[in-house]
Amino acid sequence: LRIAVFASGSGSNFEAIAEAVKAERLDASIELLVCDRPEAKVVERVREAGVPVHLFRPKDYPDREAYEREILEQLRAKGVELVVLAGYMRILTNVLVDAFWGRMINIHPSLLPSFPGLHAVRQALEHGVKVTGITVHLVDGGLDSGPILAQRALDIRPKDTEETLGERIHPLEHELYPQVIQDIAAGRIDLERYTNTKPKDGI
Ligand code: GRF
Repeated sequence: LRIAVFASGSGSNFEAIAEAVKAERLDASIELLVCDRPEAKVVERVREAGVPVHLFRPKDYPDREAYEREILEQLRAKGVELVVLAGYMRILTNVLVDAFWGRMINIHPSLLPSFPGLHAVRQALEHGVKVTGITVHLVDGGLDSGPILAQRALDIRPKDTEETLGERIHPLEHELYPQVIQDIAAGRIDLERYTNTKPKDGI
């Protein structure tokens, strides 16, 4: 399976995926890493992994569609079959959402549809839920919306802070995300059933 990973930050999920590929637990090749913040830590990690990088600064473009068209060209040139968002901090436009409908996934640190958006871990704590978790879902035009493919749950402890909870969430992500990609590669998760069902205005 030819994949591209999009990341804006630390890139620990990128690294977990790259390690799974290297260890042959994941039957995929990372064709490209797309990053909108050239100073992000993921850029160091990607150099070590020897994966080609597309770095850009959104402010160098007139609008989001312009940089997405450039990304799309590269994804097509490299024959990318699945786009994997791993801490990519930008909402996508229809340029990429439509081109990769049913072939683009994201990971989010809550049990969606609870707590979409930027501060999922903090919001779960503030809300006082006793169980939270992580979700892998298909990407539509909304914020952390789209059909859910896999979830893992995690108990919140009375003394948890955003930091301690985050520290337990990350390893869960690193385990689940490569597994889900492998399930897609092996056909255990069948994305075909979603490709013809794009709703007009997202889900
Ligand atoms: C993860 O917690 C993921 O759920 C969210 O962004 C974070 C990315 O972390 N979408 P990293 O950059 O992979 O370390």
